[in-house]
Amino acid sequence: MELPYPHPMAGVPIAVLISGRGSNLGRLLEMEPESAYRVVVVIADRDAPGFEWAEKHDVPTRIVRWSDHANRESFTASICDEIEAFACELVVLAGFMRILAPVAIERFPDRIVNVHPSLLPDFPGAHPVEDALEAGVDETGVTVHVVVEDVDAGPILAQRSVPILPGDTVALLHERIQEQEHDLYPQVVDALAAGRLHRIGEE
Ligand code: GRF
Repeated sequence: MELPYPHPMAGVPIAVLISGRGSNLGRLLEMEPESAYRVVVVIADRDAPGFEWAEKHDVPTRIVRWSDHANRESFTASICDEIEAFACELVVLAGFMRILAPVAIERFPDRIVNVHPSLLPDFPGAHPVEDALEAGVDETGVTVHVVVEDVDAGPILAQRSVPILPGDTVALLHERIQEQEHDLYPQVVDALAAGRLHRIGEE
């Protein structure tokens, strides 16, 4: 099969899916030279500002727009087709703001991971930083997990805690959480690519 990117680079080919500013994508790309993965495509559901990182590192980008599809299944299938076209072995969600249909999990079982800004199972959903602040807890954090059909419910691969400080705002707290994400996520993706961290279902 002819691949749509210049290959003979070492490393496990991965796709990164984004919707926003892509700071986690930026970190994954920065850490790539010393890691076992290679980002071979960046896919977004919109014109994401984070595409700048892909351009800077000469990584191809693809947009699969929600509005071009009749339903979640068709949207998801189109994303999966792009991932397959680049022969990706791992799918890394990094601030991707759409819920994938079960067909993605069927096509890439135990091969999709996500980073979530809370200590799951606490504060799943779309506003985990706000929810942790409002709950008045002492700490929150970061979770890297395998994506399953239920949102934010997959097996946990790694976590880091972040203390909530007096006077914290959503912005301040999210900034400290992101510092941990930027350190942790590339390490976990590297370990998965290197086979040091086994995905569910593997011996
Ligand atoms: C991160 O906080 C991540 O945990 C959440 O979405 C945010 C994405 O940030 N899933 P960025 O686009 O990588 O800067």
